Amino acid sequence: MVSNIYEGNEVKIVKIHKHTKMERTFTLGCELVGCPGQFVMVSVAHAGEIPISISGFSSDTFEITVRNTGKVTSRLFEKKIGDKVSIRGPYGEGFPLADFQDQHLLVIAGGTAVAAVKPLIEYSLTSNDCAARKLDLLIGFRSPKHVLFKTELKGWEKNGGVIVTVDTTENDDEAWAGGIGFVVDFVKYVDDLGPETKVVVIGPPLMMTNTVKELSRHKVCCKNIWTSFERHMKCGVGKCGHCRIRDKYVCVDGPVFNYVEAASLID
Ligand SMILES: Cc1cc2nc3c(=O)[nH]c(=O)nc-3n(C[C@H](O)[C@H](O)[C@H](O)COP(=O)(O)OP(=O)(O)OC[C@H]3O[C@@H](n4cnc5c(N)ncnc54)[C@H](O)[C@@H]3O)c2cc1C
Ligand code: FES
Repeated sequence: MVSNIYEGNEVKIVKIHKHTKMERTFTLGCELVGCPGQFVMVSVAHAGEIPISISGFSSDTFEITVRNTGKVTSRLFEKKIGDKVSIRGPYGEGFPLADFQDQHLLVIAGGTAVAAVKPLIEYSLTSNDCAARKLDLLIGFRSPKHVLFKTELKGWEKNGGVIVTVDTTENDDEAWAGGIGFVVDFVKYVDDLGPETKVVVIGPPLMMTNTVKELSRHKVCCKNIWTSFERHMKCGVGKCGHCRIRDKYVCVDGPVFNYVEAASLID
């Protein structure tokens, strides 16, 4: 019998963490063997199916972190612990972990995109074989009330150089002791940047473009920069063409791309 590649597995929600009004992490009750940077197709009955990055792996669960933006995500936000969603995947090309081994790795992420690099950070901090020699994180949010993964950030701070910035503190009641300004303005505070530094940059297109320009001022080579793309997807497996940019299918050739290739794909 031919198996249906579009058929997902029903998975129970075992935990829900509310980061902000708009963002939640759902812990799903099954093991998923994948690598940092990959995504799953999440299907919510009577709403639709969407691609979401895997934001955490453990031996018997995995996590997705979702921003409530529309039809499917709002239905997902109605789900409670014990409810089920359907999952296909993991799909796509993740981060090139072997290229980061024994290197200085800088991860720059903005907003919800932190979810997509969280497994990479956790892997880099815990793996014995492919770990980076030095890990720096530069993470930006809109304002203090938009900060995600507060507990994880504290843990990461113990293990490497972490700069957390917010665009503004105006109209925000929460106390803020971190940086204020755009992520790009804080690149200069990262120690030891140079041609061989490996960098992952992920966030809105303008943030990525400006950050890469700033990195090149610090002599970081484009070939040492990687990013991850978010495109509208339907099949997730290279069949429908929805995610196509020129000759690349983001769902199978990406979502992670080296910047030499990504530069020609950015709209
Ligand atoms: C590889 C990949 C990984 C992703 N990882 C995450 C993640 O970890 N967390 C998360 O919250 N979201 C992630 N996204 C984006 C997520 O898939 C969309 O937000 C989701 O499809 C919106 O579905 P919806 O039905 O709720 O919204 P809709 O009702 O379809 O749309 C609401 C608004 O969001 C816009 N939108 C829809 N899809 C996308 C998209 N793919 N990119 C940009 N804008 C879009 C629409 O144009 C519209 O303006 C990822 C997308 C891709 C391709
Ligand atoms: S989503 Fe169908 S080809 Fe990529």
